[in-house]
Amino acid sequence: MTYEAEINKRKTFAIISHPDAGKTTLTEKFLLFGGAIQTAGAVKSNKIKKYATSDFMEIERQRGISVATSVMTFEYKGMLINLLDTPGHKDFAEDTYRTLTAVDSVILVIDSVNGVEEQTRKLMEVCRMRDTPVIVFINKMDRDGKLPFDLLEEIEKELKIQLHPMTWPINSGKNFKGVYNLFDKNLRLFTANTRANDENTLQIKDLNDAILDQKIGEKDAAQLREDVELIEGVHGPLNIKDYLEGKTAPVFFGSAINNFGVKELLDTFIRIAPVPLCRPTSVREVCPGEEKFSGFIFKIHANLDPKHRDRIAFLRVCSGKFERNRYYHHVRLNKDIRFSNPYSFLAREKDIINEAFPGDVVGLFDTGNFKIGDTLTEGENLYFTGIPSFSPELFKEVVNKDPMKTKQLEKGLLQLTDEGVAQLFTQHNGNRKIIGCVGDLQFEVIQYRLLHEYGASVQFNSLPFYKACWITAKDKKKLEDFIRFKTGNIVVDKDGHLVYLAQSQWFLNTEIANNPDIEFHFSSEIHK
Ligand code: G4P
Repeated sequence: MTYEAEINKRKTFAIISHPDAGKTTLTEKFLLFGGAIQTAGAVKSNKIKKYATSDFMEIERQRGISVATSVMTFEYKGMLINLLDTPGHKDFAEDTYRTLTAVDSVILVIDSVNGVEEQTRKLMEVCRMRDTPVIVFINKMDRDGKLPFDLLEEIEKELKIQLHPMTWPINSGKNFKGVYNLFDKNLRLFTANTRANDENTLQIKDLNDAILDQKIGEKDAAQLREDVELIEGVHGPLNIKDYLEGKTAPVFFGSAINNFGVKELLDTFIRIAPVPLCRPTSVREVCPGEEKFSGFIFKIHANLDPKHRDRIAFLRVCSGKFERNRYYHHVRLNKDIRFSNPYSFLAREKDIINEAFPGDVVGLFDTGNFKIGDTLTEGENLYFTGIPSFSPELFKEVVNKDPMKTKQLEKGLLQLTDEGVAQLFTQHNGNRKIIGCVGDLQFEVIQYRLLHEYGASVQFNSLPFYKACWITAKDKKKLEDFIRFKTGNIVVDKDGHLVYLAQSQWFLNTEIANNPDIEFHFSSEIHK
């Protein structure tokens, strides 16, 4: 196969959702279609269960399992699909945000009963930062959910994206009768637990055909005709360019658990989702078709078992061909390294691979060389942009309980934060170390790992901050003044960038209003 054909065969994406909307169930159905798994229930072990939230060891154990399913590669209709998994637990949301930098598109699952939820909003914000193409799957139509037009309105308003219905439901809950495919012009009648190749589809050339009344009853047929006329009048055919630019999201209705509406979704995904795209870097745009290899690290997974201290760095290939045992340039460290055992995620077992193409994700054994965002090239000095850190929501000061272990503690803090477990800040002109996390669970993980992996015993003292803003100013003097006045709120991040910690939204608003010369940024991206 030619190099170009290899690239054009690949679709790399993630399924995202607020926990419990049905991401795991949908993933599983996709894998069944792709033949990557044979039985339902196989993906469930990957999910961090609700009852485990107080037991982080259990969560880490499950996270360990999830390495194997971090990237699920399967073939469907001649395409090679890389499905990147994202953790469901909200305390690991930052992992999800970073994974989104490594995909070319996403499928967003929304629960028809709950509509747009907190994580849905945050995830879409991240997608919008990069104009990631989004397909929406409205799940759980077998339950009494919100009315479809209300749902569309809610999603459009809350997520600030234009929607384009591709299928349309006939009722929901007990009265759910199926979906009408606006693109293929056919009707799929609802049956629970639809099989992969179920043929329960009725071609409807003309919606006025009496067969519709026979199949779903006069009342529902009349309603469907009315709905479809309205939708077609408003939306017309899908503008694929708008979808690819992240302006319009095609919408599907279905029920993942019943495997209903999933095939339509997958078939459309195959047809319209982007193949690996060009990506911005600090120097220029890098395109997949380029001869020379480049890629970046978007995730690092550590082994919690102290006997196996290896970490796995996840590399997204962006251009050229990645080859085993070849030397590549680690831009940040300015050194050349090679990988003798890179592995792919094609099978459920880890397979050593000899080569990988743009769109692929390669697992690299790492002994501490990598941090998130690192770039590998064939020598060019560039780094991929758009892999920001976001503001943590909880801040705690690290108190060293064993001064004899100060060195180990510092090393541990640096390595753990390189992995992206949390963010490390240091007091401006001081030594106090502050850890910022998205969820409380991460503090427990850090405390445990510092003790077991580095022998460092720490305690955390809560700090009254709620948001971190990276600050810059054109006028150096103004920035210095601000830092002097706000000394107790100023810290630096690991790269030495200045950060203002706000106690509350009110304080933040006040500072923004009082200091027009200072720019407040809500992600670290500004410095890239
Ligand atoms: P997540 O990964 O987004 O967190 O969600 P997951 O797929 O685990 O689904 C959350 C719950 O919703 C599961 O039930 C799942 O069976 C159910 N579910 C998924 N799709 C549908 C659907 O189309 N209709 C209905 N009615 N339910 C659906 P659970 O009881 O939490 O877990 P389990 O006991 O089924 O494993």
